[in-house]
Amino acid sequence: MKLDSIICGDCTQVIKTLPDACVDCCVTSPPYNIGLDYGHTDDCKSRAEYLAFTRDYLAECYRVLKDDGRFCLNVGYTVSTVKTAGLDYIELLNLIKSIGYTIRETIIWVKSKRSGDPQSFCGSNTAWGSWMSAANPICRARMEFIFVLNKHSVKKNNRGTSTMTRQEFMDFASTVWYFPAERSRLHKAPFPVELPYRCIQFYTYHGDVVLDPFIGSGTTAVACVRTGRRYIGIEQNPDYIRMAEARIQQERQQLQAGRGI
Ligand SMILES: C[S@@+](CC[C@H](N)C(=O)[O-])C[C@H]1O[C@@H](n2cnc3c(N)ncnc32)[C@H](O)[C@@H]1O
Repeated sequence: MKLDSIICGDCTQVIKTLPDACVDCCVTSPPYNIGLDYGHTDDCKSRAEYLAFTRDYLAECYRVLKDDGRFCLNVGYTVSTVKTAGLDYIELLNLIKSIGYTIRETIIWVKSKRSGDPQSFCGSNTAWGSWMSAANPICRARMEFIFVLNKHSVKKNNRGTSTMTRQEFMDFASTVWYFPAERSRLHKAPFPVELPYRCIQFYTYHGDVVLDPFIGSGTTAVACVRTGRRYIGIEQNPDYIRMAEARIQQERQQLQAGRGI
């Protein structure tokens, strides 16, 4: 198993090549099955296909996680909205539990324009439903979930070095996180580095191995380099992998420049 690399392929197949219990933490945001064009997939599965796909990658991640492994799973308010495959978070959580995971925390990520400011929401979604009428008004989703899961042991089995600052610990030890969403013209649906950064700082030790089976533009790997963790990424679209490698190299150069190397 090669650490600090991104493997090109379908993660449900690629993870099968990884040994059991080799990963300390999974951090990922899967395709939401909402019809985004990711180049190599149409993101538009039927309900049965999406359920089977979700079960498959969750079960494989479970196998490769260590006994005390954790999984930070970022999903939208509605997990999949394609009409034929509508899947809500209750169904997702039931699926998660049926595989064997336990739910450690549910963190609400509020997409605020300014970090820490709960009043300034990102986005200009104007899908109001019925405007100023009780006929059929719709709440706009201002948040996403981060479900934090345990494999078995709730506590880490070994001692290690945590790298978060006191202020980070205070900020991250909350079930509500406020920071802006990422806007990118290069990838269809990236999350901001802040998201994997927080998960990694809070839930892993220095040197731990982090897997992102849907690594896209490499955001989780950037957070790993920044925090001194090892990463394994999987991505189906080779153009995204090229983008990820460039970001990782830039992050390493910035770190070296910062240390005066
Ligand atoms: C929501 S995006 C993740 C974006 C990533 N967090 C980032 O910041 O760039 C989902 C990614 O999964 C990839 N993908 C979709 N199906 C896949 C599969 N079966 N195996 C591996 N990657 C897949 C898509 O190409 C897309 O880049």
